[in-house]
Amino acid sequence: MATLIKDGMLVTAEESFSADILVEGEKISQIGQNLQVAGAEVVDATGKMILPGGVDPHVHLDLPMFGTVCSDDHYTGTKAAAFGGTTTIIDFVSFDFPTLRESVDKWHVKAEKAAVDYSAHMNLTRFDEKIAAEIPSLRGMGITTLKVFTAYNGRLRLEDGNIFKALRFARDNGMLVMLHAENGDVIETLTAEALVAGHTTPEWHARTRPAWGAVESALRAFALAATADAPLYLVHMNAAGEVDMLQYARERGLKVMGETCPQYLFFTEDDLRRPDGAKWVCSPPVRTKADNSRLWEGVAGGTIQTIGTDHCPFFYNGTKPILYEGKPVAIPGKELGADDFTKIPNGLPGVGDRLPILWTTGVGSGKLSANRFVALTSTNPAKIFGLYPRKGALVPGSDADIVIWDPEKKVKYGVALSHQRTDYNLYEGWELTGMPEKVFLRGQCIVDGGRWLGKAGKGQFLPRRPGAPVL
Ligand code: URP
Ligand code: ZN
Ligand code: ZN
Repeated sequence: MATLIKDGMLVTAEESFSADILVEGEKISQIGQNLQVAGAEVVDATGKMILPGGVDPHVHLDLPMFGTVCSDDHYTGTKAAAFGGTTTIIDFVSFDFPTLRESVDKWHVKAEKAAVDYSAHMNLTRFDEKIAAEIPSLRGMGITTLKVFTAYNGRLRLEDGNIFKALRFARDNGMLVMLHAENGDVIETLTAEALVAGHTTPEWHARTRPAWGAVESALRAFALAATADAPLYLVHMNAAGEVDMLQYARERGLKVMGETCPQYLFFTEDDLRRPDGAKWVCSPPVRTKADNSRLWEGVAGGTIQTIGTDHCPFFYNGTKPILYEGKPVAIPGKELGADDFTKIPNGLPGVGDRLPILWTTGVGSGKLSANRFVALTSTNPAKIFGLYPRKGALVPGSDADIVIWDPEKKVKYGVALSHQRTDYNLYEGWELTGMPEKVFLRGQCIVDGGRWLGKAGKGQFLPRRPGAPVL
């Protein structure tokens, strides 16, 4: 069955132009003017924009934390992604089993109900010679990226020497190390002191995880990457100083790249001081208006390459069910930390919000061109993570992951529109202009206006190529 999408304005990372797109099977087969194809289903896209499906490089689904689990699993989270125009997500494999292989195998079982295409990064949260020897085998499993942490002492953190060794392994195997940059020692000290002093409210989450820790850890890792002559990708950039460090490193020719997330562009510690401040608790924390502005400069000016979400939602009140697909669902969430900020599950919803929120606030405000928007949210993540041009592109031969975007559609955004399986939305009541109208996954329309046509299990695992470029 062929689908002919006619008279839309194609928006790629490089240019915008009016054209028709022919989809045959799962692929884009032709792009051109006045295409006529007998028997094709015609979709009129006059007045609409045609974007490559969003690629979210940083998503957590079905992630256990603090005695509960994040509230989107691989079906509900990918359904929310689709409603927001994202057709590929990259999740994380927790290194919870003796070997990397077993951890990846267990993750596959959880992930197979995904409704959009998906891949995973490997959390490298332990390191010894045996583990090091197993790293190259990840390539055969289609996993080419390793996330390391300089925080979460005694749980997820790797010592600098092991990060340095991991960088060299990655370099030798065409893989990419991703860094969660915070200073674990400072966090441990400040958290213990805050608790002794009786500070229990959400704002102390930010006060015990200072921006300088993120800044020095980012620079420390850039220096390790330079020494190892390896590429490095800084995840969830949240602090102005991280942008400064990334700019500094890139100006010196280091192979370093960065990602931020919408929450760090809009929210501040003031939000943590609200009565419902637990909704904004994530790690690293949201910071100040000056940090928001510098991060916007980074994404607009080219220092930062991608905008992911770090989607990791929890209920605000997990004792009160919501209706999801007609059934009541309640999952313990932020209320677990009502009396102690260290017990608030860390993470925010966002996978479905990313494109609508960034379109209005970025493209609508003139901060980003539509092409830069596509680069940040689709093409660059596809390139950096070894999926391009199958994903992130509108060219013949690419997967027909296509968003028909209505740039005039006005909505009052919030939990009712976002489809994330939680009881709140960070952008409740925001007036947006520009929303996905139809979303295609490999040629199948899975979202049509407000209608869900997708299915659990229709997403495909995407094995990724090593040796992806440094942008
Ligand atoms: O609060 C967050 N971001 N939770 C997810 C884990 C992480 O470090 O990305
Ligand atoms: Zn992280
Ligand atoms: Zn994360």
